Amino acid sequence: MGKKAIGIDIGGTGIKGALVDIKSGKLLSDRLRYETPEGGRPKDIAKVLQALISELPKIKDDLAVGICFPAVVQHGRTLSAANVSKDWIGLDAASLFTKELRRHVHVMNDADAAGLAEAKFGAAKAKRGLTIMTTLGTGIGSALIYDGVLIPNSELGHLEIDGIDYESKAAFSAKERENLSWDQWAERLQKYYSKLEALLVPDLFIVGGGVSKQHEEFLPKLHLKTKIIPAETRNSAGILGAAYLANRNSDD
Ligand code: BGC
Repeated sequence: MGKKAIGIDIGGTGIKGALVDIKSGKLLSDRLRYETPEGGRPKDIAKVLQALISELPKIKDDLAVGICFPAVVQHGRTLSAANVSKDWIGLDAASLFTKELRRHVHVMNDADAAGLAEAKFGAAKAKRGLTIMTTLGTGIGSALIYDGVLIPNSELGHLEIDGIDYESKAAFSAKERENLSWDQWAERLQKYYSKLEALLVPDLFIVGGGVSKQHEEFLPKLHLKTKIIPAETRNSAGILGAAYLANRNSDD
């Protein structure tokens, strides 16, 4: 079984990548970061991926590459596009990347990658039952993990509460946009996580996204039946999860 893979995390503002040791979840290279090209178009992003991969240590040419992306991804096809060009909608992203990078790639949703990273290497390691990972950033991403197995594309950030797509109220971007205090934001999070809890009855919530570094400001303000804890893999979550899944699939 190959124990190394490349993980790449594409976001609306930055593209990060590293070489990953799949067994330990440790990065074997620097975490490289490039700006997302203006407009976030498919071919421009593929060019950045080429540059990024060429900068990583060369182990072997056919190393598995996992790529995570802020969209619903079904069988390598991106079916939506959050904060990147709408050209991604309906695109066979796996084929595009395979052609441009001349390697086999595995493409997945960004929050799914983060959830998988937490389940394999982080706060939900070896955890049984249902873990719900949520990433609070520009949007809200979600991942459902049951007994360590990922159920992809849950898209729970778009849960409708009071007739509103609640991502627009409870993402970290809403806190910034509306200049909400921690207390005001926590009230919205309380509503959001209570709804998730009532619908899915999880065993654990994990909260990721950049703001999870400041978890002490808002997690203690939430009153839920379910334990809610910050993510451990932080900045590398997407990279780790994407690399993990790419390696596993290349072994199948
Ligand atoms: C998208 C998800 C994505 C999340 C975090 C949401 O707006 O619908 O696919 O995982 O943002 O990037």
